[in-house]
Amino acid sequence: GRDLAAVVLGGTIDVPDFPKPGVVFKDLMPLFADGRAFHEVIDGIVGHYGPESFDVVAGVEARGFVVAAAIAYATGVGVVPVRKAGKLPRQALSASYELEYGEAVLEVHEDAFIAGQRVLVVDDVLATGGTAGAALELVERAGGTVVGFTVLMELAFLKGRERLSPRTVHALLTVS
Ligand code: PRP
Ligand code: HPA
Repeated sequence: GRDLAAVVLGGTIDVPDFPKPGVVFKDLMPLFADGRAFHEVIDGIVGHYGPESFDVVAGVEARGFVVAAAIAYATGVGVVPVRKAGKLPRQALSASYELEYGEAVLEVHEDAFIAGQRVLVVDDVLATGGTAGAALELVERAGGTVVGFTVLMELAFLKGRERLSPRTVHALLTVS
């Protein structure tokens, strides 16, 4: 297969000053829109973790949903949404966090996981790690066992990996 880091890079457009001045936003939507590239990166993530290494996938709103659902379908497991505040219909756990360009609150249904269920947590981009830290905390508070956190792209200069340590992060592409 092709070099997956190159596939991710090739499907990304840098957008200066989005969503705020000074941020160069990495837009991965062209990658999602390219059927061959999307298929390759999903298979690459699935291959990294190997067969039957997780029981469910948790995806972080909104772009994490796209990646998480594809991994779940490819592996025959289910998908659980980690949502922005106020979107979930039933009793939920919440965690507030800071991210590269603001702050927000994430939530997960309190009964989203069976105790001890092995959860792969998925997003498109790791930047400061604020979002990922909140998502991982919520999955564990809801009774899941996190087996990994995976993204298509890591922005290494924002030090998310250090922030999440000792948890391990898997990224198909790391940009500095
Ligand atoms: C982006 C991205 C990650 C997060 C990464 O989502 O998809 O979830 O920011 O940043 P961090 O590592 O600094 O926390 P965003 O909050 O823009 O939400 P969206 O997917 O709903 O657009
Ligand atoms: N692209 C996508 N998501 C992000 C970014 C980015 O540049 N920074 C923080 N979250």
